[in-house]
Amino acid sequence: MATNITFHASALTREERSTQLNQRGLTIWLTGLSASGKSTLAVELEHQLLRDRGVHAYRLDGDNVRFGLNKDLGFSEADRTENIRRIAEVAKLFADSGSIAITSFISPYRADRDQARALHEVPTPGESTGLPFVEVYVDVPVEVAEQRDPKGLYKKAREGVIKEFTGISAPYEAPANAEIHIKNHELPVMDAVKQIIEYLDKNGFLP
Ligand code: PPS
Repeated sequence: MATNITFHASALTREERSTQLNQRGLTIWLTGLSASGKSTLAVELEHQLLRDRGVHAYRLDGDNVRFGLNKDLGFSEADRTENIRRIAEVAKLFADSGSIAITSFISPYRADRDQARALHEVPTPGESTGLPFVEVYVDVPVEVAEQRDPKGLYKKAREGVIKEFTGISAPYEAPANAEIHIKNHELPVMDAVKQIIEYLDKNGFLP
């Protein structure tokens, strides 16, 4: 725990930064089982936001972040909690800079997602408001995810080669109040992305 530290405020308020950039920072938090389609959705969403709407958006993705920032973490409950805590802090920095952070992590524990939300929504010193946090439940039944099994991980989990695998031998706590619920086994990816962009438009999050 660091001691003797002081928060140093920026010369620009978040509002002034948004005005200059002509976009509003926020975090879009995708949660769902392995093979639910989070990464595919995130890639298309990032692309459409940049290409069609001209807003800066950036993806933070489960496997990718575990190659670098979080390479010291495994899949125990404590490590997943720490994984999500760090991601939430990073996403918040992106959102605070005026960008749209798109995170795609299983984030299986409700308490961890609620912490990530609180970190965004509770204003930091010097700001009068928090940052928007849009939780997106990428919902597919575990049977569908297991049938897809693009990386062969469910098979390994069933064989006991991978321990603590979400949906098989570790829990997934589905969101009860996500802003957006995507039934991702019933929709083409373009329709799923449309559902998110319509939500962002309706709530005034896009220029
Ligand atoms: S978590 O639970 O949010 O900390 O997980 P995350 O950082 O999103 O990492 C999920 C990806 O790691 C691979 N993988 C596992 N997932 C779940 N359980 C276990 N035990 C596990 N071991 C490895 C897997 O490729 C996940 O990627 P996605 O894209 O979700 O399939």
